[in-house]
Amino acid sequence: MIRVLGIETSCDETAASVVALDGASAPEILSNVVLSQIEEHAAFGGVVPEIAARAHVEALDGIVEAALADSGVVLGDIDAIAATAGPGLVGGLIVGLMTAKAIAAAANKPLIAINHLEGHALTARLTDGLDFPYLLLLVSGGHTQIVAVRGVGDYQRWATTIDDALGEAFDKTAKMLGLPYPGGPNVEKAAASGNAARFAFPRPMKGSAQPDFSFSGLKTAVRQAATAIAPLSDQDVADICASFQAAVADALGDRVGRALNRFRQELPGKADPALVVAGGVAANRTIKATLEKLCVQAGFQFVAPPLKLCTDNAAMIAWAGIERLRAGMAEENAADFVPRSRW
Ligand code: KG4
Ligand code: ZN
Repeated sequence: MIRVLGIETSCDETAASVVALDGASAPEILSNVVLSQIEEHAAFGGVVPEIAARAHVEALDGIVEAALADSGVVLGDIDAIAATAGPGLVGGLIVGLMTAKAIAAAANKPLIAINHLEGHALTARLTDGLDFPYLLLLVSGGHTQIVAVRGVGDYQRWATTIDDALGEAFDKTAKMLGLPYPGGPNVEKAAASGNAARFAFPRPMKGSAQPDFSFSGLKTAVRQAATAIAPLSDQDVADICASFQAAVADALGDRVGRALNRFRQELPGKADPALVVAGGVAANRTIKATLEKLCVQAGFQFVAPPLKLCTDNAAMIAWAGIERLRAGMAEENAADFVPRSRW
């Protein structure tokens, strides 16, 4: 039995979790405590690093205690502490990693420094028991990436955004239209009563041989459309949101479709390989439906872990710790590890 305490503080969620793995049986999430700071940042329309760091300092001890209490495991029975060491906002990373180091030192347990993106990449093995290799689409407020996940520690980034992250594009669009933060869910809600055909927004990168994403041109097109017809009625806002969402889904489908083809060519050997979607934007139903259809056509399984586990959380960090322990890849010198805001 391996039990790992995970800590996540890289952005605006303060989170701790205990995950256990017993031999060949399915892993078990014994606790998963996530405190979102959304309300503290809402007035600013985005995450304010200084506020985030202070909020982590205030909350983390209590969140760790709650995660241990919920799990029913005492610290002495934990095998290792896994903490996000990057990438992310450096203030939060320092709070999480230093707290983890202190707990590890006091309890005489090993510390495992985890890359936040590795946490997202391995989540589908925690939730769905997926085998390597598989393809990951990570679409959040800070990341827009396609990653070929080939093994523990073996990740190949096939595409990233050359400007805005997709969640950021949703948030900025919402802000332009006067919708509250976080923008994604509000854009989706408004889009439900809108006409997606009213505005012919660009589909950035569609058809391009370059694999990457781009969303800033789309954002500019939205701004121009909104400025041209201001003041906006509720129906105008709904139509812009629906047209924006359709453009995003279309552009995303094009990019992901290319990656599915590449996966078939470069990593053959699986009759039904999987596409995993993760990140807050994966909650969007239009985007999900587009990707699901694409997967059916391409003969891929479509795997969307529960939202709670594919937005920022600490269960994925604890699980990445377990994966590293199991693979003999837990860093021995993690006590010396310094946070890396870019990693
Ligand atoms: O993974 P996540 O919770 O956290 C970070 O990036 O830290 O992603 C948050 C992002 C935000 O930009 C939010 O606007 C977006 O995910 N989002 C959505 C939806 N729900 C959340 N975007 C589009 N449609 C949604 N339903
Ligand atoms: Zn994340």
